[in-house]
Amino acid sequence: EKGGYDYFMLKEIAEQPKAVADTLLGRIDANGSLTLDEVRIGAAELREIDKVVIVACGTAFHAGLIAKYAIEHWTRIPCEVELASEFRYRDPILDSRSLVIAISQSGETMDTLMALRHAREQGSKVLAICNTNGSTIPRESDAVLYTHAGPEVAVASTKAFLTQLVACYLVALYLGQVRGTKWGDEISAVIRDLSHISGEVERVLETMEPVRALARSLADKKTVLFLGRHVGYPVALEGALKLKELAYMHAEGFAAGELKHGPIALIEEDLPVVVVVPSPRGRSVLHDKIVSNIQEIRARGARTIVIAEEGDEAVVPYADHLIRIPATPTLLQPLVATVPLQVFACELATARGNEVDQPRNLAKSVTVE
Ligand code: M6R
Repeated sequence: EKGGYDYFMLKEIAEQPKAVADTLLGRIDANGSLTLDEVRIGAAELREIDKVVIVACGTAFHAGLIAKYAIEHWTRIPCEVELASEFRYRDPILDSRSLVIAISQSGETMDTLMALRHAREQGSKVLAICNTNGSTIPRESDAVLYTHAGPEVAVASTKAFLTQLVACYLVALYLGQVRGTKWGDEISAVIRDLSHISGEVERVLETMEPVRALARSLADKKTVLFLGRHVGYPVALEGALKLKELAYMHAEGFAAGELKHGPIALIEEDLPVVVVVPSPRGRSVLHDKIVSNIQEIRARGARTIVIAEEGDEAVVPYADHLIRIPATPTLLQPLVATVPLQVFACELATARGNEVDQPRNLAKSVTVE
């Protein structure tokens, strides 16, 4: 059932182009507009929303962090993202105009379920983004947008994450479409780009051999740091989470701009630091800033592992290892930038002799609070 792969995780990483395409299937009409009727929250109601609150755990929380950038940019609706386990205990401000989005692969995560119950008690509408048909979270929500990743068996989430991102983009673009924002043209262009993105994910998968070799060469390291900015910041957090859970290594993700506020003191000779570089097109100011961050850490001896768009030459002089990803619109970059980090963590875990599909101390769905 592993389809010729040694681990479910490898199989699920390889299935990502299909998972992404399947999650888009039937949701973009012939005119390039989104049809999300299945969501069952009417356009009039969506126009009334004055706040979006996303609750999730672990990898799904990272998808939520990325969704915030997309939702606020395309809809101008304020969006908060909160760890489901923290949410209800701080007495959050919610009412009938808040849309709460609960993201969960399994649909059975107790922390997320308790958060959505709390939101519904406050009169908010809850939209679930879920990969498991008929599971508890969608059953208890007002509406559901299913991800079509297929069953995810490995404890470490991979294809579910990419499809959660796709679902989040769809919701953000749909809200923008329904409410009509000044980004109308950009929204249409991004919908077009989304419909090609699975091919880009495929292209990334075809170039992963050097990433595997790099991972094997780092098997005896104690720490790996991950840096990113903008949507690359949650990608850095996700890269670090994968490494902790699979390789049992100390790994941390930081917003690159925070380096100078403390973490730069951690940099020492030969410390591997993975940097997710935003596109030099689009928000290019971010790109320039991260290039100087790379210079700073390299000057202090870090071994820089740079994930950058094809054609981005500015990073070349400062990259000890360069991992290329295809050019995408800024907000969609996590769909391609996360893949090398999954492969990296999986290979490091294998090199360290760890059980890839079933890491120690973890369960696939966490049904206790
Ligand atoms: O089933 P869920 O999406 O609600 O699970 C949430 C987290 O437990 C899950 O993403 C966890 O962090 C993964 N093992 C990470 O790879």
